[in-house]
Amino acid sequence: MHTYLVTGGAGFIGSNYIHYMFKKYGDDIRIINVDKLTYAGNLENLKDIENRPNYSFVRADICDKDAISAVFAKEDIDRVVHFAAESHVDRSIESPEVFVQTNVLGTAVMLNCAKAAWELPDGTFKPDHKFLHVSTDEVYGSLEEDGGYFYETTPYAPHSPYSASKASSDMLVKAYMDTYKFPANITNCSNNYGPFQFPEKLIPLIINNALQGKKLPVYGDGKNVRDWLYVEDHAKAIDMVQEKGRLFETYNIGGHNEKQNIQIIHIILDTLREMLPESDPRRANVTDDLITYVTDRKGHDRRYAIAPDKIKAEIGWEPETMFEQGIRKTIQWFFENEEWMKNVTSGDYEKYYDSMYSNR
Ligand SMILES: NC(=O)c1ccc[n+]([C@@H]2O[C@H](COP(=O)([O-])OP(=O)(O)OC[C@H]3O[C@@H](n4cnc5c(N)ncnc54)[C@H](O)[C@@H]3O)[C@@H](O)[C@H]2O)c1
Repeated sequence: MHTYLVTGGAGFIGSNYIHYMFKKYGDDIRIINVDKLTYAGNLENLKDIENRPNYSFVRADICDKDAISAVFAKEDIDRVVHFAAESHVDRSIESPEVFVQTNVLGTAVMLNCAKAAWELPDGTFKPDHKFLHVSTDEVYGSLEEDGGYFYETTPYAPHSPYSASKASSDMLVKAYMDTYKFPANITNCSNNYGPFQFPEKLIPLIINNALQGKKLPVYGDGKNVRDWLYVEDHAKAIDMVQEKGRLFETYNIGGHNEKQNIQIIHIILDTLREMLPESDPRRANVTDDLITYVTDRKGHDRRYAIAPDKIKAEIGWEPETMFEQGIRKTIQWFFENEEWMKNVTSGDYEKYYDSMYSNR
């Protein structure tokens, strides 16, 4: 039986991954979720699994070496899946330091604690112990509008403080693999969407605002392209890389689903109109007039697009959820979880939202 230490499991992708893993392995795994519960972490995301005897939660900062060592000392961990990070580009532009702190220093602490727990006296590591570092395609920089893809061999060229901090953390993992033969993999994934995504990110923000008849802010000309992947497909890819991938390798994960931001907004508006019954009063709110162009994000990367050839050829992973189906599932989830949305958009989030968009 594998025992997983999942960092950042109360966030968007981490909580979807934990749900996926219990759905797939049931009682045949144990998961210890370590999360600091920043604004982005929410234990409500895990309420239907929190009483499982093979799940436990530890509130800790990944930068706190003593707290992380204590988890390794107490539990016989043989899998680490490291999600915890500051993840929002706009916030990184406003306050870069916390991104360096959590994403770089926190990753160093995670690597060091795992190395200390797993290293044998001869400098090799306990067999079948593995660390997976979850990263982003943003480390590769920006592509031209008219072509090209990110491959695992594409040189790193991060632009935002977020992507620079993720690139640094990837480099640290590579250094541990090269220097100590530390048993790890890195995955670089494109933009995710799905249930439990915090509404500062494009897709839940547009769904939430449109339902309330609030403006839909679009950066610049709206033609920046992202490659969208349904979050459960990402969770599955992470598990497949950890179990079937070659150690020390990087795998790119993407959906071959490139869309301009403005296209995403139109798809969401059309899907909302289709899905909301005539009798639903929110239907009247959903109009194209809500679309409002705002000053572009500083240093906004134009296009990201992943070539997922390696993960497909070596591991057999392919995205399963088509965008039209994934967006319907996501909207349906938000319809059924209005309370979740209300809770996460109250208080501090309102202040943050006003500071980001009110004067643009
Ligand atoms: N969202 C995407 O589209 C996307 C795409 C590719 C890769 N990624 C990567 O996947 C990972 C998860 O992203 P997400 O969108 O779920 O992020 P998220 O912001 O929703 O969740 C991050 C989680 O990490 C926790 N956390 C933050 N700082 C911490 C600290 N110092 N100690 C312990 N826990 C801490 C938060 O409480 C939260 O639960 C990140 O590493 C991100 O870079 C995200």
